[in-house]
Amino acid sequence: MNQIHSTNFLVIGSGLAGLTFALKAANMGKVTILTKKEKRESNTNYAQGGIAAVFSNDDSFESHIKDTLNAGGGICNENAVNILVHEGPSRVQELLNFGTNFTSENGKFQLGIEGGHSHNRIVHSKDLTGKEIERALLQKISENKNIQLLENHICIDLLTKHQIVNKNTSDHCYGVYALDVITNEVKIFKANFTILATGGLGQVYQHTTNPLIATGDGVAMAYRSGALISNMEFIQFHPTALYNSGSPAFLISEALRGFGAILKNSDNEDFMLKYDSRGSLASRDIVAKAIDSELKLRGDDFVYLDATHCNSELLKNNFPNIYARCLKNKIDITKEKIPVVPAAHYCCGGIVTTTDGATTIPGLYAIGEVAMTGVHGANRLASNSLLEAVVFSHRAFKKIESTVNLKTTIPEIREWNDSETINTNEWILISHNRNEIQSLMMDYVGIVRNKIRLERAQQRIKLILKEVLDFYHRTKVSEGLIELRNLAIVSDLIISSALNRKESRGLHYISDYPEVDDVNWKKDSFCGVST
Ligand code: FAD
Ligand code: SIN
Repeated sequence: MNQIHSTNFLVIGSGLAGLTFALKAANMGKVTILTKKEKRESNTNYAQGGIAAVFSNDDSFESHIKDTLNAGGGICNENAVNILVHEGPSRVQELLNFGTNFTSENGKFQLGIEGGHSHNRIVHSKDLTGKEIERALLQKISENKNIQLLENHICIDLLTKHQIVNKNTSDHCYGVYALDVITNEVKIFKANFTILATGGLGQVYQHTTNPLIATGDGVAMAYRSGALISNMEFIQFHPTALYNSGSPAFLISEALRGFGAILKNSDNEDFMLKYDSRGSLASRDIVAKAIDSELKLRGDDFVYLDATHCNSELLKNNFPNIYARCLKNKIDITKEKIPVVPAAHYCCGGIVTTTDGATTIPGLYAIGEVAMTGVHGANRLASNSLLEAVVFSHRAFKKIESTVNLKTTIPEIREWNDSETINTNEWILISHNRNEIQSLMMDYVGIVRNKIRLERAQQRIKLILKEVLDFYHRTKVSEGLIELRNLAIVSDLIISSALNRKESRGLHYISDYPEVDDVNWKKDSFCGVST
C-alpha cells in the first residue's frame, strides 16, 4: 500500500516561483512543497545578475516592454509582456518585504544593466541575487505553520485521468506520485491544486550553467499527461560561462559586461562590434552566436571577457562571487582576462499557461521557468526570468484565490504498481544514456543547427528513448531513472520543435533556413498532445 498524503496546494519545486506561491497560498489552506534535493537546490539559488524591473526615474514601462519585445524576435505575447513589466516593481518590493537584502545606495536599489536593456533596471544582491532570495524565502517558509516542505521527494508523474480507478472521470490533475529518495518509497500526494514550479532543463546539454536538478521533469510530466507544450526549440545559451569550470559550468554574469567588461578574441579584438553596434551588450542570442562563429572561424576553444580596465576595488566589491571563483581557477579578474564559452542556460518554451498560470489540464498550474507564458518569445531578455517567476506565481495565486474550492472530492487513485519490475544495480546504463543524450544535444542541437544534424539527433534520441522506456517499465524507479526518462523526452521535444520551425528566429538558428520567415512562422510552435 502506498502512503497517501492529502493537501490543498501541492507545490512541486522550491525555487522562486514555488516558494512565493506557497507563502501566499498558505493563507488559504494547507500547502505541501515537494522538492527533489536539498531545499535550496534550484536554478534560483545560482542566479547572479538580478531581477529586471522599472525603478529608475529615467526608465519607463514602455522602454522595458520595448526591450523585451525586441529581444523576443517578434513572437512575444504582448499582453503577457505588459503584465510582466507593469506588475514587476510591486513583486520586487514584495521580495524586499519578505526579507531579501538587495544591494542599495542612497536608500534606493542599486540598478545594474545587462545585454538588451536600454536602461539600468537590474535589482540585485551583489552577484549572489538568487542565493539571497532563497535564503529570505526559505526563512519565511520555515516560520509558516501551514506549509510542509519535504526534501528528497522527486515527483514521478501527475495524477490525471490515467491514474484514477474510475476511468470515466473528466480530465483533471489531482496531485502526483513521488519517490521518497531516502526511503525508496513511492507515495501518493493528493491535492485540490497542483502547481508545477520545477524550473528548467539545462541538464539536457553537456555544457550548462544549470545545476543537476534541471532535468526538465515538469515539462516531461505535463507532456505525458497531455498538457500543451510550446516553443521548445528556443533554448538560450548564455554567452559567458567560465571555460573549463566543470559541470555545471560557472556563470560569469552578464552584469559584468553591464559594468564595463568587454568580450575579446585571441587577437585582443573587441569582436562584438563586427556583429552588433551594441557590442558586448547586444542581446544574448546575438552574443552567443557571435562567439560561436568567432570560435569556429579561429579554431579557438574560448574567447575572453576583459574586465582589467575596470576599477579593481569596485569590481571586487560588486562581484565577490565571480572574483572568488575565478581566483580559485587561478585567474585574478582585476588583472587577467577571463576565458569564457557559451553554455546552455534557459528554456524559453515550456508548458503553455494563461497569464494566470493555468495549464490546459484543470487543477494543474505551471509557474516559473517550466511555464510558457509568452513573455520571452524566441529569446529571453536578461533578468526577465526571476521577474516572470515572481509575477506569474502571484497571478496564479490570485486566480486560485478568486475561484478556490477546497471541497472538491478527489477520486480514488490507483496504487503505484511495480510488482512486475525488478531492482537492478545497472547504474551504468543510466549514466551512459544520460551522457549520450547530453553530448548528442550539445553537438547536434546547439547554437547553430542544421537539418542533417537535427535528423541524426532525432534518429538517435528515438532509439535512446525506446531503450530508456523499456528499461523504465522493467525496473524499480530511482531518481536517476526518473530523470533519464524526462531528459530523453524533453530532448525529443526540443529536436522535433527545431526540425519543425523552418526559419531562423531568436535563439533558433538553422543554416538551411537562415532567414526570418514572418509570413509562415511569426507564431509559437506547439508539441503534440501526448495522452
Ligand atoms: P528553479 O529555481 O529552478 O526551482 C525548481 C525547483 O523544482 C527546484 O527546487 C528543483 O529541485 C525542483 N524540482 C525539479 N524537478 C522536480 C521533481 N521532479 N520533483 C520535485 N522537485 C523538483 N534569471 C534571472 O532573471 N536573473 C538572473 O540573474 C539569472 N541568473 C541565472 C544564473 C544561473 C547560473 C542560472 C542557472 C539561471 C539564472 N537565471 C537568471 C534563470 C533563473 O534563475 C531561473 O529561470 C529561475 O530561477 C527559475 O525559477 P523557478 O522557481 O521556476 O525554478
Ligand atoms: C546573468 O547574471 O548573466 C544571468 C542573467 C539571466 O540569466 O537573466
